[in-house]
Amino acid sequence: MKVLIVGGGGREHALAWKCAQSPRVSAVFVAPGNAGTALEPKVENVAIAADDVAALQRFAAERAIDLTIVGPEAPLVAGLVDRFTQAGLRCFGPSAAAARLEGSKAYAKDFLRRHGIPTASYATFDAASFDSGYVRAQRLPLVVKADGLAAGKGVVICDTHDEAVAAAESMLGGRFGGAGRTVVIEEFLRGEEASFIVVARGSSVVPLATSQDHKRRDDGDAGPNTGGMGAYSPAPVVTPPLHARIMREVIEPTLRGLAADGTPYLGFLYAGLMIAPDGTPNVLEFNCRLGDPETQPILMRLKSDLTLLCEAAIDDRLAQASLEWDDRAAVGVVMAAGGYPDASAKDDVIEGLESAARLPGKVFHAGTRLAAPLGAGAPPRVLTAGGRVLCAVGLGTSVVAAQKQAYDLVREIHWDAARYRRDIGYRAIAREAGGAR
Ligand code: AMP
Ligand code: GLY
Repeated sequence: MKVLIVGGGGREHALAWKCAQSPRVSAVFVAPGNAGTALEPKVENVAIAADDVAALQRFAAERAIDLTIVGPEAPLVAGLVDRFTQAGLRCFGPSAAAARLEGSKAYAKDFLRRHGIPTASYATFDAASFDSGYVRAQRLPLVVKADGLAAGKGVVICDTHDEAVAAAESMLGGRFGGAGRTVVIEEFLRGEEASFIVVARGSSVVPLATSQDHKRRDDGDAGPNTGGMGAYSPAPVVTPPLHARIMREVIEPTLRGLAADGTPYLGFLYAGLMIAPDGTPNVLEFNCRLGDPETQPILMRLKSDLTLLCEAAIDDRLAQASLEWDDRAAVGVVMAAGGYPDASAKDDVIEGLESAARLPGKVFHAGTRLAAPLGAGAPPRVLTAGGRVLCAVGLGTSVVAAQKQAYDLVREIHWDAARYRRDIGYRAIAREAGGAR
């Protein structure tokens, strides 16, 4: 079978790598892909942007693609799956209506409230209804969120009322364009975050392995929020009883609610959770896709064939599906370009990828591109393309061992001003040291 992966980041490299391992798969196309997918056996890049739905649909029809898996949220929110499905193309992902769970935070909060799913208390405003008096009456800190997709930058945690009013006014004033026309003002929750990702079709669901990412740029969870500087799987904070509670209190009512609202779900559903000190799994956000970089360590541990799972979901046979996991822990360390998450440098030559490829573990690419070799017979050159550049994933019988394998890869790789955290996995390692896992 032929598979199309939509997107060009680390998540999509991991998806393409995983699908290419399947004996059922003859070719994997990635649109637009990156240098890592270009160099992967059985994988070929296609020069179509991830949000060019019409061109993707033409490509899938012309090349008789058997299965399309969508990585990022934008094409899902734009209705890629609806268009593919209408055209008779098999596509794994939610409809635009179901993807609103990620596409609109105000819609998601109302959904959570309506279906009695735990989440922070909140209020929603547009420019006409904005009430700074409401904001000033709330307890600090306060969280201000742009309603729409803002590339992970639309959330501001405010320590003062002035800051919260200013953040809301700047969003309502057009800082994120249409995405900030509505804002959500939310109670700040304490606890530990976990990413809980499932494969769903209607009310049938198969959970993926748990994971935790590191959203802040700097060691010790300092510095600005990013798309994610590293992740590991499993997340020991999600104990078996908590896992059962998340399924019962979050995932199952969400899928039932979506079906009852007339927007049944198909695809990966990602609940970003804040586990309160009393164990309540509060929903911070939904994503209608896999997480990046969570996907990289999760797929390193998945032994089953991902294409079979996606097809079982499309065909509504998920109830019979089950997944086999590598018992080892996986730790993924993101290497980002200098300047990330603001304007980041690009076109630096990345050295050391070939020697890293001889070590155990796997380096997934994100913001990379191929440049012409410096002469006949020379190896391809890989350049940075900004943002998050690579994610080095190690496996180990302990989180410490997996972390060591990941950082052994990182140390092989160099470019000017590469930056990465040195403490990915520290919470799980502290738990390991404490004897609990
Ligand atoms: P979101 O895109 O909604 O997940 O927000 C991005 C990040 O902001 C989350 O991963 C949290 O670290 C933080 N965050 C969002 N909402 C809250 C909240 N209500 N309380 C505390 N932290 C939050
Ligand atoms: N790593 C967080 C996300 O993918 O949204």
